[in-house]
Formats: sequence, structure tokens, C-alpha cells
Amino acid sequence: MSRIKKVFVRLKSKIDNSYRILIGHNIFLDVLERYLKKNIFSKIGLVTDSNLFVIYEKLLKKLSREYRIEIFAFPEGEKNKNLTTISNLISEITRKNFDRKSLLIAFGGGVTGDLTGFLASIYMRGIKFIQVPTSLLAMVDSSIGGKTGVDTEEGKNLVGTFFQPSLVIIDTEFLKTLPRKEIKNGFAEIIKHSIIFDEKYFSMLENLSPDFFVRPDFDLLSNIIKRSCEIKSYVVTRDEKESGLRQILNFGHTIGHGLEKVSNFSMPHGNCVAIGMLLEAIISKNRYLLSFDDFRRIREILTKFDYLEAIGELRGFDLKSFFDFLSYDKKNVKGKIKVVLLKKIGKTLRKRGNYSFDINYKEIEKALTEANF
Ligand SMILES: NC(=O)c1ccc[n+]([C@@H]2O[C@H](COP(=O)([O-])OP(=O)(O)OC[C@H]3O[C@@H](n4cnc5c(N)ncnc54)[C@H](O)[C@@H]3O)[C@@H](O)[C@H]2O)c1
Repeated sequence: MSRIKKVFVRLKSKIDNSYRILIGHNIFLDVLERYLKKNIFSKIGLVTDSNLFVIYEKLLKKLSREYRIEIFAFPEGEKNKNLTTISNLISEITRKNFDRKSLLIAFGGGVTGDLTGFLASIYMRGIKFIQVPTSLLAMVDSSIGGKTGVDTEEGKNLVGTFFQPSLVIIDTEFLKTLPRKEIKNGFAEIIKHSIIFDEKYFSMLENLSPDFFVRPDFDLLSNIIKRSCEIKSYVVTRDEKESGLRQILNFGHTIGHGLEKVSNFSMPHGNCVAIGMLLEAIISKNRYLLSFDDFRRIREILTKFDYLEAIGELRGFDLKSFFDFLSYDKKNVKGKIKVVLLKKIGKTLRKRGNYSFDINYKEIEKALTEANF
């Protein structure tokens, strides 16, 4: 046997992946204009879904007229967050001569952000993109952290990359057209951020009026979005690739995803995550980690914002397929169910660098009974 020759590929990333998140009311055009003045691109494309394409037709026409931005719309909805849409978009931008020096703008909710980020990360091995989230969920969650990707027949977000945007522009004006159901989906993530990270933030949220979003105070809303963005970016910058701290963002989601699945996705994501948070809080309380008083406050905020009435709809659901799903969720290792547990509001359980813990079926069954299923 000849001597083995070695070549080391030393990867010390010198690339600075930092980016800014700019938040405000009616800021989109000004911020975009300043960004485009500072950075020269060969082509600019804006990707959006068919729904927003109609709602924001006037704005998009202005962008294409005044800034020569090409608009690409794909059919709305999670069912189109797939490789076919990516392949179609690749054909469209290639035909329009997009090259390495081009820019993509993701204008829409989490589906648009995930698709556009993925497209930007693979097109010509990576081109710049910016996020303009228009749903509350995308503003406080999916536009931050650099996870991009699409679903396949076999599962959600199975194909994807870690790829950071160059800028995130959050304009609360876009929330005026967002349906209430979508506001609730995003607000569940906001409540989650406060429970896992910041008791003061939780106190502020629990004092909001339940119809805050009907007539929002846009300054307060920007502050809320800002705090959630700070929490999410603090967590993801300390654990870019989800090996440690980032697990805390899954609070409520392990059980929540199981509920979404057994409801055949008829129940909104926000409600499922909220019920997941309730169940994971019950398990934390039953393990004597979380005080009864903190548990009560969590149950009360979820009740106040109308998340728990959905529990009734899940009664009589197929417990076996729920447990089967939990065992196969990609967050779980070797068929064990792992969840984030709480020590108190604002603090999750951590042991030897681990933030998610095995729970057993009995504990979930007991929590389900206690939650009045
Ligand atoms: N990358 C991540 O880290 C991350 C994190 C969480 C969720 N996600 C992904 O995000 C997606 C969910 O995001 P979503 O809830 O925003 O879904 P979405 O993009 O499908 O938006 C929900 C609906 O709201 C509409 N909409 C968006 N903004 C609007 C506005 N301003 N006015 C009127 N209608 C508007 C959309 O057209 C769509 O019909 C999922 O695919 C999920 O996997 C990704």
C-alpha cells in the first residue's frame, strides 16, 4: 500500500455573516431605496406569493417601474413550498439573466422567505438576498436565523440550507392586511419567546388587551417585534446550526407538530403550538420544575388570547397516530420524544449543555387529561 497523502482543507470562516434587522412603521420603501443606493446589483428580483401579488399589486408595480425590480410570483401556500416551485423560479430567473451579482428580495410570509432564501443559497452557488417579512410569524421567527428550505412528499423542511440574508426589513404597515388567524400564528411565537427567555417581556404581554391586534399601537408593536427578534437572534447567533441552545426555540413545537399532524393540518399552527406549550408546561410542573403559579400564568395568557378553546376540536383524535408521529419527528432521537422543559417563566431547563429532555407516553397522557382533552 502506498503512503496516504493528505491535503487539509482548512476552513476558518472569514466571511462575516452579520446582518441588520430594521423595524418600523412605513419604512419599507425608504430603507430599500437606501440599501439599493449603497449596493450595486446586476439585477434585482422580488419573489412573492400569488396572494400578496394581488394584495400589493400597486406597490409591486411601483417597485418594478421605479427600481426596475423583476417580480416573480409563485402559487400561495405551504403545499407549494417544494422543489417544483424552486425549479420554476430557477428557470424564470435564469431566463431573465440573473447572475452572481444579482439580488433577490423575499417579500411575504415564512413560505416565501424559506423558498427565496433556499433559491438564493443554491443559485450560482449563492447570491445575495434580503428578507421583507409580511406575516407576523415571518417577522418574529422565520426571517431570522438563516434556515431556508422546502418540503418534500416525505416531510416538512426536509431539504434546505443555512444561509443568511443581507438585511431584514420589518414594516409593521404590512400587518394591516394580515388575516387574524395569521396574526395568532405569529403571536404564539412571541408568547413562546417570552416564556423561554424573558419574564419581564412575558409580564408586558400578559397585560396586553386581548384585542391589541385589532387596533394596534404601532410603536408598541414595533417594540414587541424588536424584543422577539432580539431573543431569536441572541439564540441563533450562539448556536447557528442547532446543536445546543437553539433547541429552546422548539418549546411547544414537538407536541404542537404532533397535534397539527393528527388534526390533518386543519388546526392552525399557532393553536397547535400554544396547546403544545401548555402540555409541555404541565409536564414541567408535574416534574416539580415549574411552580404552580408560573404554570397558571402560562395557562392564563394562552386562554386570554383564545388559543385553548381549540382543545375541544382535538378531543377524540387518534392518540396512537399522535404518539407514532411524535416518535418519528426529526427533532427526536432514536424514537425518544424530546421536549423543552421549563424551570420558570423566562428560563428553560439545561443539563450538561442539553436543552431538550426525554419524556414518556404516560407523562403526555397525564398532561392531556389535565389539559381537559
Ligand atoms: N426558516 C425558519 O426558521 C422558519 C421558522 C418558522 C417557520 N418557518 C416556515 O414558515 C412558514 C410559515 O410562515 P407563514 O405563517 O408566514 O406562512 P405563509 O408564508 O404561507 O403566510 C401565511 C398566509 O398569509 C399570507 N400573508 C402573508 N403576509 C400577508 C400580509 N401582510 N397581508 C395579507 N396576507 C399575508 C400569505 O399569502 C399566506 O396566505 C412554514 O413553511 C414554516 O416551515 C420557517
